[in-house]
Amino acid sequence: MYYIGIDLGTSAVKMLLMNENGGIEKIVSKEYPIYYPKPGWSEQNPEDWYTQTKMGLGELISGIEKKEVAGIGFGGQMHGLVVLDENDEVIRPTILWNDSRTAEETVHLNKVIGEDKLLEYTGNIAFAGFTAPKLLWMRKHEPENFKRIARIMLPKDYIVYKLTGIHSADPSDASGTLFYDVENKCWSEKMMDICGIKEEQLPTLYESYEVVGTLKEELCAEFGLSKDLKVVAGAGDNAAAAVGTGTVGEGSCNVSLGTSGTIFIPSSEYKADRNSALHFFAHADGNYHLMGVVLSAASCNKWWMEDILMTTDFAGEQENISNLGRNQVYFLPYLMGERSPHNDPDARGAFIGLTMETSRKDMTLAMMEGVAFALRDSYEVAKSLGIKVEKTKMCGGGAKSHLWRKILSNVLNLKVEIPEVEEGPAMGGAMLAAVGCGKYDSVEDIAKSIVKVKETVEPDPEIALLYDEKYKIFRNIYPSVKDLFKTMRLG
Ligand code: XUL
Repeated sequence: MYYIGIDLGTSAVKMLLMNENGGIEKIVSKEYPIYYPKPGWSEQNPEDWYTQTKMGLGELISGIEKKEVAGIGFGGQMHGLVVLDENDEVIRPTILWNDSRTAEETVHLNKVIGEDKLLEYTGNIAFAGFTAPKLLWMRKHEPENFKRIARIMLPKDYIVYKLTGIHSADPSDASGTLFYDVENKCWSEKMMDICGIKEEQLPTLYESYEVVGTLKEELCAEFGLSKDLKVVAGAGDNAAAAVGTGTVGEGSCNVSLGTSGTIFIPSSEYKADRNSALHFFAHADGNYHLMGVVLSAASCNKWWMEDILMTTDFAGEQENISNLGRNQVYFLPYLMGERSPHNDPDARGAFIGLTMETSRKDMTLAMMEGVAFALRDSYEVAKSLGIKVEKTKMCGGGAKSHLWRKILSNVLNLKVEIPEVEEGPAMGGAMLAAVGCGKYDSVEDIAKSIVKVKETVEPDPEIALLYDEKYKIFRNIYPSVKDLFKTMRLG
């Protein structure tokens, strides 16, 4: 039998065909546009996601015995606000996770409603990228659209709906809405009131590995797939990536370097971060996790290489960079504002420490180090909460860079393990499908059985020490320029 994992990412939908032993038969990726209608805004059309998903699906299953596909599972970009009218038509483009238009609504939630209350109702405080501030923004700025909302969904759940006709959500992704109660695993009445919505507008909750339904008949006919093909709920992309890299259970950790950068630490107990610097969300295995999110990670690299250096030779630019820990240039990677731990949509990117001797390579290195230091900010918060981690997995587009792996390992002073399959969220989606179809007993069981490590990067004590010193400087830069960013707010 085969299982399909669909990762509805920000730049593309990545799809993977897995056999029942965890072997990867094929990977397909289909891009779609992101729109930036104003500085700090980012939107996508759900219809584009679906068109490209269907296109990719056809390619993915060409040449195989289609009736052998037993299940489909998902990972999806989190927090995006998908709104449908009473005919299940999309009302407006989706406001994405890295959109920072909701600064005012976020402050309202944290200061007027109050962080304590939000923590009590949901386990988290408000961050600009979360779904609830987007709803408040829509209520204020697009009241006519707001009135038409019959359904509120998250991005991957829109695809599940298009495939099955069922409105579903899972706990890991629902956690990022701020109208889900992470501790009690239900939609929060209090938050629904605050956002002016009703439970009937929200989807039914399923565990990530639970079967939501089967593929619609017309799609089975179109693709030649079985009527019994099961669609499981799937997970937010970070929880799915954690499953895909085997980051399940206490003591494990995953760093993802995708468009965003995240550090993901599973927890078997409910222990929300009372200081609110890190998110406390449900995991796809039925437990929980802490997570720090850097809004621009591999996207800093893409921006630096393609828009500034005007090259597509990413590897070439990183060749011969060897002065790890000795660079005098620093970079703040806040190109779309920053989430963890600063929670500042007005933060912006910056190079600092330039001299007449600064080279192109120094700036490339600074850009990569800046992302690693920003992730260390979250890791430091986790350590201050008493969390102990000895090694981490690493996945996402940025993890393909040997240089970035080395920088990360030394900046975090952690052993980094690279799994055989780097497509974390798509792999996780396929694994959740295999659990939902009963091929494996649990998420933990499949993670133990099939995830293999192909490479390990050990930190070098000397470089790690140098980075410790540099990190002390890095962590002082943001507080020094923070107020300046407010005066630069673009509108
Ligand atoms: C997580 C987050 C991002 C997106 C990227 O909170 O906002 O990692 O999920 O797809």
